[in-house]
Amino acid sequence: MAREQFGICAEPNLHGFYLLFNVLDDKNTYIRTALSRLPALFDDYADQFSEANLTTVIAIGANYWDEFYPKARPASLKTFPEMHNDDSIAPSSNVDIYIEIRSDRFDVNHIVSSKVCQLLADSVELVEQVQAFRFLDGRDLTGFVDGTENPQGMHRREVALVKTEDDALFSRGSYLHIQRYQHNLTLWRSLKEKEQEDIFGRTKVDNIEYESEKKPLTAHTKRTSLKDEQGNSIEILRQSMPYGDMKQQGLFFVSYCQSPEPFEIMLKSMIFGDEHGHVDHLLKYTQAETGAAFFAPSLTFLTETLPDQA
Ligand code: HEM
Repeated sequence: MAREQFGICAEPNLHGFYLLFNVLDDKNTYIRTALSRLPALFDDYADQFSEANLTTVIAIGANYWDEFYPKARPASLKTFPEMHNDDSIAPSSNVDIYIEIRSDRFDVNHIVSSKVCQLLADSVELVEQVQAFRFLDGRDLTGFVDGTENPQGMHRREVALVKTEDDALFSRGSYLHIQRYQHNLTLWRSLKEKEQEDIFGRTKVDNIEYESEKKPLTAHTKRTSLKDEQGNSIEILRQSMPYGDMKQQGLFFVSYCQSPEPFEIMLKSMIFGDEHGHVDHLLKYTQAETGAAFFAPSLTFLTETLPDQA
């Protein structure tokens, strides 16, 4: 049975470091070897700094996958679903490699990220680096708790990991979408607390969900809490974290799932709304600046299948 990368379903940490790379021409062989060795390196750091709860994820961009591993492709892997509707946009900015480094120590994230960059240095271009942090009791910078309705316990794995019967070679992998949102906090703070609560469909301080009939159709949780035709909940596992400095702030949105579809359905519901055009009003106060789709293969694929086939 394949083993998943443990960062996918891990509980939240205090600090996150997200690294996005493009691979230089003719460096695919080196990259395959380097990525197959990274899990062992991450294990060494996790042992060395055991109290830091280091967790990591390595993922391969949808548009790079065929160069990375021409022999086979995860069954549902596809490019980021770019969307726009009036002022609401979800741009796509394809990237080859995603590395997520999370722990409870900022310095440990820095050490591990530096090592990754050093190892990949001559073969990649660092496209983006985002340092993220836990804000208060797990809140987004809008002041609302983020992650409450995330799947819990073993259910996280059911939601986030590909099942063997669906795609044997890529079982225990995960489809990953990221978007870097930049908030307009000046505009957000101009709202009254009740107006902010209506936008999320939850109360702010004590994080209580509105009763269903009181939730505006434009509330973020109305637009993202969806069911399929059989009445089953459509779910993703969110591992987003706030980021920012004194010039710009926002949410580094991260979604893991056993299929790319649930994310796409939710994003569509936020941007295009329901049949009456009730779009997600959260998007008036935050804007996605990037968007990319990846596959995070199992540890077994990275460390055993990949070196064999490289
Ligand atoms: C800046 C962007 C975003 C912010 C600040 C944000 C924040 C939040 C907050 C505060 C909640 C309520 C508490 C919770 O259950 O976590 C929530 C719920 C949720 N969000 Fe977002 N979110 C953002 C983007 C997205 C995107 C892009 C998606 C998916 C495409 C998404 C999917 C969900 C889902 C599925 C829920 C749970 C809904 C429920 O069952 O009640 N969010 N989000």
